[in-house]
Amino acid sequence: MRRSIWLTSLTLLLAAAPALAESPDGDAAAGREVAKRWCASCHDVTGHQAHVQPDVISFPEIARLKGVSMDSLIAIQSMPHIPMLDLDLSRRTKRDIAAYILSLKAK
Ligand code: HEC
Repeated sequence: MRRSIWLTSLTLLLAAAPALAESPDGDAAAGREVAKRWCASCHDVTGHQAHVQPDVISFPEIARLKGVSMDSLIAIQSMPHIPMLDLDLSRRTKRDIAAYILSLKAK
């Protein structure tokens, strides 16, 4: 009995570990939620959104730009890309958003 409780908690710990560690690949689902909240006022972040600002490049278009990568997308987000917008996103969030944008490549 004792042993099975120990095993159960070990299993739970292992299951929780990936959620706690920062994934080098980012978490696209989390990035999508952040993007909807912080980026959707200007960008079409899904490819299906009614364009609020038609001149601004959509996320699926960004995903298909030449040379786009996890690193380049993180770097772009680290610059205040328009003067008024200086979102102070964490590195992890930038990575999540980058993962989400990259996931749109095929769409
Ligand atoms: C207030 C409007 C606005 C918001 C909010 C906004 N952007 Fe942008 N974004 C723009 C505009 C305008 C451009 C084009 C800027 C340019 O060409 O210099 C741009 C360009 C970009 C580019 C570069 C595309 C390229 O041509 O290389 C990326 C990547 C990007 N935005 C990501 C994001 C992300 C991620 C968020 C949310 C965290 C976000 N943006 C929020 C207006 C916005």
